[in-house]
Amino acid sequence: MVLTAADISILPRPTSKLSSVNWDQLMFGRTFTDHMFCADFEDGKWIGFRIEPYGNISIEPSLSAFHYGQSIFEGLKAFRGSDGQVRVFRPEMNAKRLNASARRMCMAEVPESLFLEGIRALLSIDSDWVHGKAGYSLYLRPFLFATETYLGIKASDSYRFMIIASPVGSYYDGRIRVRIEQHYSRASAGGTGTAKAAGNYGASLFPAMLGQKEGYRQLVWTDSATHTYIEESGTMNLFIVHNGTLITPPLDSNTILAGVTRDSILALSRRRGWETREEPISVDFLKTGLADGSIKEVFGTGTAATIASIECIGINGVDYSLPDLGLESQANQLATELSAIKMGEIPDSLGWNWNL
Ligand code: COI
Repeated sequence: MVLTAADISILPRPTSKLSSVNWDQLMFGRTFTDHMFCADFEDGKWIGFRIEPYGNISIEPSLSAFHYGQSIFEGLKAFRGSDGQVRVFRPEMNAKRLNASARRMCMAEVPESLFLEGIRALLSIDSDWVHGKAGYSLYLRPFLFATETYLGIKASDSYRFMIIASPVGSYYDGRIRVRIEQHYSRASAGGTGTAKAAGNYGASLFPAMLGQKEGYRQLVWTDSATHTYIEESGTMNLFIVHNGTLITPPLDSNTILAGVTRDSILALSRRRGWETREEPISVDFLKTGLADGSIKEVFGTGTAATIASIECIGINGVDYSLPDLGLESQANQLATELSAIKMGEIPDSLGWNWNL
């Protein structure tokens, strides 16, 4: 199936909510644009491609997504550059990852043209919501959930794909404190760790709440078998800078989300000629490097979080502080370059932007 703009029906909202938005007090994911995109998978095919006013949807209590968790999502952003152009960052990667998640969760796949044309249609009607203000973007949340009304346990026969959009500033306000988690697990071998499955996030909330009570904003998950290797953090992939070398855990354990920002940072770092590795990072290696100063930077990467600098890591009851290297840090240099590409301020020579 190849979807085109002509296949999408449009029901506009009579008046826009845009003038009521307080851009100085935006909280992540609390404000939504005027419209949403929807499509349904029924009888083995995708139908009902539509833009509607953002709002309630009608669903039955027996909806299988509620009961058995077939629910997956994506996150990506649209930016408006100083040239007025709206650019979406690497949406094809999100389309592919959504389908990798769908396969793991035994759900219908979303054709790439449906994913991309849905984004295009929503952004076309809500384009004024892509603010050009520095540090702001329009966060797009595509998601897919099972809609069969049936309590027997089986893969649903029907699904809904939706895209909603939320204007956002930064996810974290400043550098963050994290703690290495060595009791609870986010993912295990053979599990759903590489899928962007809603349940992965639900299961992380209790351990995250325990960490927050101790003053840590996020946990750093470790491998479930031994709890001796770091994997990723709540909303981000993790990087360390060890004597100038960027290192991030590899994806081959199938327990780590294949982040689009992770991939972009790896590419930019390698293009600069910086030594860049994807290799296991043990908690001991991290602890030693933090203690002897060979690790001076640890940062997270994610669509919502962008590049989040870590100021302190708690390991087994000991807090290790990291210096604030400011603009000189390797993380900051990469973040500045990445942001300039997204905003169209420097050439997009890797072909990442998708112009609306
Ligand atoms: C994203 O960065 O897009 C995510 O999905 C993280 C989210 C849970 C806030």
